[in-house]
Amino acid sequence: MCGIVGYLGSQPAHPILIGGLKRLEYRGYDSAGIAVLEDGQLCIEKKKGKVADLEALIGDNQYSSTIGIGHTRWATHGEPNDLNAHPHLSNNGSLAIIHNGIIENYGALKEDLNQKGYAFKSDTDTEVFISFIEYIKESEGLSLEDAVRIALTKVVGAYAIAILSSDEPDKLIVARKGSPLVIGLGKDEFFVASDASPIIEYTNEVIYLEDEEIAIMQNGEYRVINTSDDSQNPQIQTIDIELEAIEKGGYEHFMLKEIFEQPKSIADCMRGRLKASTGQLVLGGIREYKQALINAEKITFVACGTSWHAGLVAEYIFEDLCRIPVEVEYASEFRYRNPIIKEGDIIVAISQSGETADTLAAIELAKDRGAIVFGIVNTVGSSISRVTHEGAYLHAGPEIGVASTKAFTAQITVLTMIALRIAHLKGTITERRYNELLVELEGVPDKVQQALDFNDKVETIADLFQDAKNFLYLGRGYNFPVALEGALKLKEISYIHAEGYPAAEMKHGPIALIDENMPVVVIATRDSSYDKVVSNIQEVKARKGVVIAIVTEGDVLIPKMADFTIEVPSTHEALMPLISVIPLQLLSYHIAVMRGANVDQPRNLAKSVTVE
Ligand code: G6P
Repeated sequence: MCGIVGYLGSQPAHPILIGGLKRLEYRGYDSAGIAVLEDGQLCIEKKKGKVADLEALIGDNQYSSTIGIGHTRWATHGEPNDLNAHPHLSNNGSLAIIHNGIIENYGALKEDLNQKGYAFKSDTDTEVFISFIEYIKESEGLSLEDAVRIALTKVVGAYAIAILSSDEPDKLIVARKGSPLVIGLGKDEFFVASDASPIIEYTNEVIYLEDEEIAIMQNGEYRVINTSDDSQNPQIQTIDIELEAIEKGGYEHFMLKEIFEQPKSIADCMRGRLKASTGQLVLGGIREYKQALINAEKITFVACGTSWHAGLVAEYIFEDLCRIPVEVEYASEFRYRNPIIKEGDIIVAISQSGETADTLAAIELAKDRGAIVFGIVNTVGSSISRVTHEGAYLHAGPEIGVASTKAFTAQITVLTMIALRIAHLKGTITERRYNELLVELEGVPDKVQQALDFNDKVETIADLFQDAKNFLYLGRGYNFPVALEGALKLKEISYIHAEGYPAAEMKHGPIALIDENMPVVVIATRDSSYDKVVSNIQEVKARKGVVIAIVTEGDVLIPKMADFTIEVPSTHEALMPLISVIPLQLLSYHIAVMRGANVDQPRNLAKSVTVE
């Protein structure tokens, strides 16, 4: 949450900062701001709203400064307004900071600084943080670098920060703990950002700063130290993200692009790993701890949001194929309730961004208690990919729309491959079923494309329901998590209240809500619970509910009962979530567009939730 950018070099910083903020806007869009050092003076422009509002504010005021920092905010402390927008200045105006994270002890620091005569303009923890640095610098007569380092040992919480000083106008200082920070190394120039997306158009050489590391950049050179003042030797990595992967490529929204990319992203996820014709399933990321997975008495998935739904699908798959008991935990609940974790237990963390604070904290807790932790992550080089013992990348490409789509299907694809591999090694699956599932999985991208081909029909249905106040989503078995995901997609981007339920559970509550105004989306593909779902549809129809059914192509029974049907190709029921979720993603997308909602940046949400 919150995106930070910085630049130091010989080009004008201002356009680089604005371009970077646009790339990071998915991380928060309550306000945006930049600070540059123009003729040694700190100049700040900041505004409530989007980066476009900041651009309008700056207007023709083109700064020529070659050093600057920028921020796009997801509010934690203080409402989203101009005053609370970053950058913030220190008390005497000589230091400017941008910050992603939360300083938990800011209240005590603020009180202390107040008593010393410091005044604050905003409600933010960040303004306290920079004035605290100023206080240490001034009261102890320290250099900026030492003052930052000492301040970092005294704050509690998470931060990725970038600091400018009018006293040292050619120096950019950045640091991180718990929030991501990447430094791009150009020729005598440096690019700083919360992730690599603002950097890749300039350089592919990057350093991922580690927790409690501080980088000092000046005169084309950089040094990295830790908070104990020990010199660090960071690894320079080469990243290979193509620029087109982070652009809309002709689509109206990133979300639509990402929905339509799924045949490719799922294929990319399997590339080099699965080859059905030879029975090959290679997963380099689970090599070292493979035996631990095979012997596991239990597997615990931890995740948040859509990734948690992918974990629920995986629960069905792992229990079905591997015969290993599975628990799926919200990372935020797991970490706070003294969970039972024994030495050698298996924890699988699922995360698109690889930065979700609660998931990271759950991993740390599990590792402290001796668990083996796997990461199923999309963002290469992200924190979760670095703190887990082993794991597998999704290779789905950058996901920018806040509502997750292609990451969900890629997560399920990776988890299915792992389950198949373990089941095969354990012997809990017959050779025949194993080979059948490999063939089916390899064929999923084509089937996803067929499901996407019904886009026009989904759009027509969306048009009829765009004014609905509530939606109910029902599914059973493998399609139950899909019902949860369909409801989440709708509420996230269209702001229509929606609930996902196991179809049979409807009788124990939600059925009371059903009347002629309640659209009920039923995922009713042909599988082992088909007949039961048909009964559930009858129950909805008997109460005059309006049924939109997702059915397997060729189904002749349900179209006679449901008000609307959307067909998807048939596949093995364990793989159906990869296909049945497609029309639900499209339905939520079209309804949100028709309601005029900002699909890629829904209100109050952020893509990368780096606060707890
Ligand atoms: C946020 C995003 C969701 C995402 C969730 C978990 O809420 O808006 O799309 O599913 O975080 O994020 P992660 O990056 O850990 O998958």
